[in-house]
Amino acid sequence: METLTHDIVIVGAGLAGLRAAVAAAEFSSKIDIAVISKVYPVRSHSVCAQGGTAAVLREGDSNDLHAWDTVKGSDFLADQDIVEFFVKQAPEEIVTLEHWGCPWSRTDDGKINQRPFGGHSFPRACFAADMTGFHEMHTLYGKATAYDNIKFYDEWFVTSLIVEDNVAKGLTVINLKTGDMHAFRTKAIIMATGGYARIYEFTTFSHTATGDGMTIAYRAGVPLKDMEFIQFHPTGLVPSGILITGGARGEGGYLINAKGERFMKRYAPEKMELAPRDIVSRAETTEIQEGLGLESPYGPYIALDLRHLGEEKINERLPLIRDVAIKLSGVDPVKEPIPIRPAAHYSMGGIHANIKTETPLSGFYAAGECSCLNVHGANRLGTNSTTDCLVFGTVAGEEAAKYALSNSFREIPREKILTEERRVFDEILGREGDERVSVIRDEMRRIMSEKMWVFRKGDELESALKELRNLKERFKNIRVEDKGRTFNTGLVAALQLDFTLDLAEVTIAGALPRTESRGAHSRPDYPKRDDENWLKHTLAYYTKEGPRLEYIPVTITKWPPAVRAY
Ligand code: FUM
Repeated sequence: METLTHDIVIVGAGLAGLRAAVAAAEFSSKIDIAVISKVYPVRSHSVCAQGGTAAVLREGDSNDLHAWDTVKGSDFLADQDIVEFFVKQAPEEIVTLEHWGCPWSRTDDGKINQRPFGGHSFPRACFAADMTGFHEMHTLYGKATAYDNIKFYDEWFVTSLIVEDNVAKGLTVINLKTGDMHAFRTKAIIMATGGYARIYEFTTFSHTATGDGMTIAYRAGVPLKDMEFIQFHPTGLVPSGILITGGARGEGGYLINAKGERFMKRYAPEKMELAPRDIVSRAETTEIQEGLGLESPYGPYIALDLRHLGEEKINERLPLIRDVAIKLSGVDPVKEPIPIRPAAHYSMGGIHANIKTETPLSGFYAAGECSCLNVHGANRLGTNSTTDCLVFGTVAGEEAAKYALSNSFREIPREKILTEERRVFDEILGREGDERVSVIRDEMRRIMSEKMWVFRKGDELESALKELRNLKERFKNIRVEDKGRTFNTGLVAALQLDFTLDLAEVTIAGALPRTESRGAHSRPDYPKRDDENWLKHTLAYYTKEGPRLEYIPVTITKWPPAVRAY
């Protein structure tokens, strides 16, 4: 086993990870930075971001308005001091990417174009057609590769954090090419591994979005926060679940039920299709439950109608989704409505971290979707996610750099590495049980889809938790068929399943006691928001018996909770 040493190790090469790497490299050329990714960096899920990145750039818009939209969108669970910081930093990130070559779409007079988006009361989503994440990623990757002090470890898989005395000292990592485990000794670690919506089957997420960094942190003693708040995007393409950007509604698309009615007028008369996602997803689900969905071999769906936008506009603003709809659903949006329904899309929850991206563990930072800094509360607004990755990727890179410059390397106890090698290679790869990873994974996704979806009730959550814990027991009896070491995708699938089982458990365990409806957490058995008892964040701590929950208050600066109507 080789030990590799870097001042800062960033896990994940999506938007947050790459932005952190560049920020740290710019902070000091003396810092030696490693970026570890289980996939080639530009295959990270961030490339799938389509609709835009929110920032205040125009007269008529303001930081206060962006902050208010975000707080109201969050159903008042966002921490308002962090939201104010977030909106203040956002414009600079857009301009910085512009200087680094990001090909933003333009207005006729050459300015960065902005489109309307759900829950925003001003057109503030900067976009690059409907491939915003793709272009941001390529801009950042190009920038990052220009620094001599950033080294990429592509197709390396992190399995655990090495922690002693509440200090993060390093990581255990498998080089997927050789199958060997290595230790990374470091002064500061930034977790930027993205979300975990692959606990669901019908999701906009890449297959790699298994929340590895969240579970790794959780098992190392760092709490996960607000995990019950999972976002369902209103327009997942039927049957694949691939994202059809909210930008399609931002450009003027309609949502239609089986009667040909724009039903959003009954749920959000003012904002209609541009209400926040939790509201639109509930409306669609209600229409389908009431028999007003359209029929398909893949179940009922809602129609997203773009025909009135015309071919020219669709080709200019929404070329990717036209292509995707034609290739994967056999529907050309210029001629027919697109079949869609809500799909698991984003986790508002994640690794508990503060405005500086610091976690309770010294030397350990978290940014992007794997973190929960409390910007998005109970429901994130569309296009605030890529902004979050850029703003807090920068913060994480700078904070980790300061920490690395003022701390020295610590010794990594050999016993910790040997224990992890035994867990991965003897207990998981070596196991000769009769359960299959794919069967347990599909069962987990069925449970989550049936009992922890757009609406969730107490009795269903209780039974989901029981079934999930049973699956965790069954996992102890798996068998990975391929016992080799080189690119062992069976082993990777088993490790990812192990991570997601913990995350699914925490998600349900957080939802069960929250006896209210707030943002994306919608309980027909408790249909009202309950600020008296539940205006608080959930913290979930790892124990062998399952998560232990604690609660912390929400920070309110300017906007006391109010009625949330659109
Ligand atoms: O609809 C979209 O393009 C997604 C944007 C987001 O999740 O922020």
